[in-house]
Amino acid sequence: MKFKKKIKTRWHQKRLKDKFFLEAKKLGYRSRSAFKLLEINKKFRVLKKGQNALDLGAAPGGWSQILSQKIFSEENNNIIISVDLKEFKPIKNLQIIKKNIFDKDFITLMKKKFTEGVDIVLSDASPSTSGNKFVDHIKIIDLAERTSEIAKNILKKGGILVIKIFDGKEKQKTINAIKNNFLNFKFYKPKSSKSDSKEIYIIARFLK
Ligand SMILES: C[S@@+](CC[C@H](N)C(=O)[O-])C[C@H]1O[C@@H](n2cnc3c(N)ncnc32)[C@H](O)[C@@H]1O
Repeated sequence: MKFKKKIKTRWHQKRLKDKFFLEAKKLGYRSRSAFKLLEINKKFRVLKKGQNALDLGAAPGGWSQILSQKIFSEENNNIIISVDLKEFKPIKNLQIIKKNIFDKDFITLMKKKFTEGVDIVLSDASPSTSGNKFVDHIKIIDLAERTSEIAKNILKKGGILVIKIFDGKEKQKTINAIKNNFLNFKFYKPKSSKSDSKEIYIIARFLK
């Protein structure tokens, strides 16, 4: 019990020194992840006013806040949908759906919501960890494969996919599958992504 408490305190101390965490609090972003999408957008210019967007694994809503600010257009009344297993507080200009992206009816539901297709699919989803590295890695790969399948089914031709993956043995098959579906494919590690984290983002543009 004592040991657990010590870890929690150390984690809190570390977080208080984290400049992105502090900056997110100051600017009203719900997560430090918001900066990762801002960096991705600065480099690749993937966000544009009027896009229809699907944000997967969206809680607590940092990326969705950025989407609301950067792409919602009253004139276009474009559709932005954020999905997560967990509920999270509403964000203006977008719809939040509590759902598992592995649900069998997920793609059909999204096709109904986005009758004119989607311009950009984003996924910052990560599974809860079990402690077993191999099991966790497989879960991550399954998530990436599912996201890639969703994107292929609902993106318009020329659409964009921004997806988080984690380094590890099994990742190559997923990467190849994504690479084959898009004309342009890049890896990117934002500065706001912790250097000890194995996460890396794929920016895949122009769905074939
Ligand atoms: C790192 S957080 C996302 C942070 C978010 N992008 C932000 O900016 O605040 C990862 C999220 O993925 C979600 N997730 C994991 N597996 C999922 C699944 N199968 N379906 C929907 N959401 C999932 C988790 O519930 C968690 O909230």
